[in-house]
Amino acid sequence: MSSDEMKKRAAEAALKYVEDNTVVGIGTGTTVNYFIEALSRIKHRIEGAVSSSEATTQRLKAHQIPVLDLNAAGPLPLYVDGADEANRYLQLIKGGGGALTREKIIAAASDQFVCIADQAKLVDVLGTFPLPVEVIPMARSHVGRELLKRGGQPVLRENFITDNGNLILDVYNLQILEPAKLEAEFNSIAGIVTVGLFALRPADVLLLGTPDGVRVIGV
Ligand code: A5P
Repeated sequence: MSSDEMKKRAAEAALKYVEDNTVVGIGTGTTVNYFIEALSRIKHRIEGAVSSSEATTQRLKAHQIPVLDLNAAGPLPLYVDGADEANRYLQLIKGGGGALTREKIIAAASDQFVCIADQAKLVDVLGTFPLPVEVIPMARSHVGRELLKRGGQPVLRENFITDNGNLILDVYNLQILEPAKLEAEFNSIAGIVTVGLFALRPADVLLLGTPDGVRVIGV
């Protein structure tokens, strides 16, 4: 079975977490795109969606799903998003698509975070996938030096500007044994807007698409 088919399975399984007459927080990425397709089938049952990126906004609008402002619609009962890596404690690396800041804001403002992914995203230790870090442009060199001091190998994502007008450093060479501690430490570096570690606010449920069905980790 292809990874796309597994992503689609996980995305379809997330539909059952959507409650009628609510606003749904929506992440970014190829797995979420399958969720948007699925959601469009029941769009008459929801009030709308809060979007984590310009790309997701465009896709929601193309499916005639109303896009609402988090300030007006939040707090939300549900946030659905993908991940680049997940461990069994539902701590995640996110930001492969560069939307980590808005994703983290919506996750923080949501009661339940349902993460959808294909089974290859589940790892024992986070960090094989380079950790995305969103950085204010003038702080790029300073943040790079601070990350080097902590054993990371930061690489500037070429030709990429986030929806917030910032840069992404992808940090290689991290074996993240204590995700929440590293998240807090990187959060304290001046010039970092958002670290793509979701450990202080992990997912609540992980739906993993597999060839045998959907594996549910968490409640
Ligand atoms: C977007 O910035 C990311 O956090 C995505 O959620 C993550 O990269 C997963 O993307 P895919 O669903 O495309 O694998």
